[in-house]
Amino acid sequence: MYRSQELCVTGQRLSDTNTYSPRSEGKVTDFRIIGKPVPRHDARDKVLGLARYAEDFSLPGMLFAKVMRSQYASAKIESIDTSIAEKLPGVKAVLTARDVPKNETVAQFGRSSTERGFESIYRVLADRKVHYIGEPVALVAADTEETAERAVNLIKVKYESLPAVFDPLLAMEAGAPQVEDGRSNIITHFEVVKGNIDEGFSEADVIVENTYQVPFVDHAYMETECGVAWVDDDGVITLRVSTQVIDHFRSVADILGLPHNQVRIIAPYVGGGFGGKEDITVESFIALLAYKTRKPVKLVYSREESILCHSKRHPYILEYKVGAKRDGRLTALKVRLVSDAGAYAYLSPWVLLYSTGAATGPYRIPHVRVDGYTVLTNNIYTSANRGFGAPQVCFAYESQMDELAASLNMDPCEIRMINYLSQGESLAFGQILKTHVALPETTKRAYEALGKKVPSQGGMRRGRGIASGMTSYGRMLFLHDTSRSHVSIEMDGSVTIRAGIQDIGGGQASSLCQIAAEILGVPLKDVKIYIGDTALTPLSGMTTATRQLCMSGNATLMAAKEVRKTLLKKAGELMREDPETLDLVDREVIANEDPEKRLDIVDVVRACAAEGLPLYHLALYKAPSRDLTQIERIEGDIFADFTYGSHAVEVAVDLETGKVTVLKVIACYDVGKAINPQSVEGQMEGGAIYGLGYALTEEVIIQEGVIKTPSLSEYLVPTSLDIPKVQTILLESGDGTGPFGAKGVGEPSVNSIAPAISNAVYDAVGIRIRGLPLTLEKVMRAIGEKESPHPGSKTNIATSDSVGRNQARQNLLKGQAKDSSDLERR
Ligand code: MOS
Repeated sequence: MYRSQELCVTGQRLSDTNTYSPRSEGKVTDFRIIGKPVPRHDARDKVLGLARYAEDFSLPGMLFAKVMRSQYASAKIESIDTSIAEKLPGVKAVLTARDVPKNETVAQFGRSSTERGFESIYRVLADRKVHYIGEPVALVAADTEETAERAVNLIKVKYESLPAVFDPLLAMEAGAPQVEDGRSNIITHFEVVKGNIDEGFSEADVIVENTYQVPFVDHAYMETECGVAWVDDDGVITLRVSTQVIDHFRSVADILGLPHNQVRIIAPYVGGGFGGKEDITVESFIALLAYKTRKPVKLVYSREESILCHSKRHPYILEYKVGAKRDGRLTALKVRLVSDAGAYAYLSPWVLLYSTGAATGPYRIPHVRVDGYTVLTNNIYTSANRGFGAPQVCFAYESQMDELAASLNMDPCEIRMINYLSQGESLAFGQILKTHVALPETTKRAYEALGKKVPSQGGMRRGRGIASGMTSYGRMLFLHDTSRSHVSIEMDGSVTIRAGIQDIGGGQASSLCQIAAEILGVPLKDVKIYIGDTALTPLSGMTTATRQLCMSGNATLMAAKEVRKTLLKKAGELMREDPETLDLVDREVIANEDPEKRLDIVDVVRACAAEGLPLYHLALYKAPSRDLTQIERIEGDIFADFTYGSHAVEVAVDLETGKVTVLKVIACYDVGKAINPQSVEGQMEGGAIYGLGYALTEEVIIQEGVIKTPSLSEYLVPTSLDIPKVQTILLESGDGTGPFGAKGVGEPSVNSIAPAISNAVYDAVGIRIRGLPLTLEKVMRAIGEKESPHPGSKTNIATSDSVGRNQARQNLLKGQAKDSSDLERR
């Protein structure tokens, strides 16, 4: 790790704290625990295999659930016969849509008389019709998994096949089969309009126009969707489930027709979320079965079921037309985005909103028009996936910047530097960038860290690529986000945090402990956190949108400061000192002026307790918010703040096999303030690897609605043998909206790696592949076509080749033997 010195303007956030005064103001070194790579309390348990996940939980008399699913992409359900399945010994319940009190939920957005708005439908179980292969049709609970599986196969459904549509562009056409009866396949349209797009292109000296495509992607978390539900003694339905959102307890209650306070959701450690556990997964199924049978019910998706039946990252078709002056200044950008929502909307409109807002990238463009569409098809449904619509558009705009650089014969870093927005400037839809925009620094540092160029040898062509991105953290402003945290100090001076967060592996819980320990002057080991239980912890909102550190971190900071205030006020009385001059350090109150003057924290706590003073505080942090003025046209602030960063990579392309090996990855981000640098690095490394899979191998292949990659031997995530060491460079502007100036990094870390790799492949061999992933086959085909282009072929090879920018390209396929020693594999 390397941390920038000049960006370390930490401490500025401290000035607005009136109860927290480090001994010498405003220096990062004054933090005792914040900013230190402290071991996370969950790390040991996880390494030793002791951490208990949702699946590791069992109860006496527990039943096992299985889901019976559609094998049709589009069909009418004529009848469902469950009688044979029900008679199978060991079967305790078979449920269909008829048995679900509220099977269908229609969420509405934008209902004014002038706005069309949109609706999204969620069904627990298919009733009249199935809309995709894998749609749940019936549920079974039985004594054993095997019996449940057998029962599923004994359910007889009579279908009548209906026309289906699998291509979003076809689905947009008039007369296309309707995925949801009586509704348009186009769920929603968002647009950004700035200036006059025709004028912008007429001012341009060069115009680059291309269409990009990105695939369906699986979350491929280690832990598949799973959970256990039971009816507690008091009649409360309790779920212990792998989720990013315990707040789904409300939806589960609605589905069961129960009051919200009769459903409790507990989130233990989560073995990976990546957006895939942002929607309801198994919750409604196990809750319904437990409610029906009055027995505990467990459901664990197999890997195959997870790949075949849960949400995917949206594939997009991205049409980009960009114009620039000869000196590299952008004049115009026209974008059309079409995302495949699959058969149900889920979070597709929100993902599209992010994409439409982010489509320009972090660039200053006078004339802009972006149109985004998300469209229903009879494919598996798509929803949140790490980056939430940002990686798709980043691949397109950062490829475009490279193509523009090539056609202008400019350096790829330079053209970006010329066009980066600065603090105080605004995005195309009018949102002003209020905090430091670190992109010039992140670009420079990331690229420089690649070091000296090693020349290509033999059939191994080396190339370098750079790409940058801006990714919002925190939920969109019109969602009026809040988080709560409860902090208390016990009679022995130990500290308890209660926060309804879900820790999905990013160290969410551990960071809150650091914040409380810092403010209350106790060692980290003296802080205990209770998380993720809707009955016992105050609601802190979902672990999504890279929001948790910012939101619950701020709430925890606020709560801890209140407790600190109470303690120091009392200590001031006891010590006859001004509380402002006191500090809390290692379980002692000390006088800043006279460090000999000390008081044990336990004495202060006792004195407070004797007087009945509150030794706890429940804080509510409310994010800045704003209502949308209209639905379709994006205008003004819609995001809270952004994290800026860059990836620089070096690749080797094997001319014989088409294999792209990533030799070096540098990830450089302004993280605001690294609360735990180790966790931040973990996110940046994980994000880079996640994006590496997106770039090179990961694709859920779907043909006519059938998923052809049902296991991890067809769906290829990078293994430890495929990944280079990821070098991380953390910059700390201290300018974030989170505690101590922290920004979020979980999702931003994944954003720009794929275009960086694609740009490096172009640098290495002069081929431009505009559809991810860059598989061996695509690379070989593109190399072949570059060598002998045949007329009329629809190749994806860039026509805008920058002459002489890359020596390697000129020697392409000159018949030199492959030299594997060129690959610096670790
Ligand atoms: Mo996310 S993709 O907001 O979990």
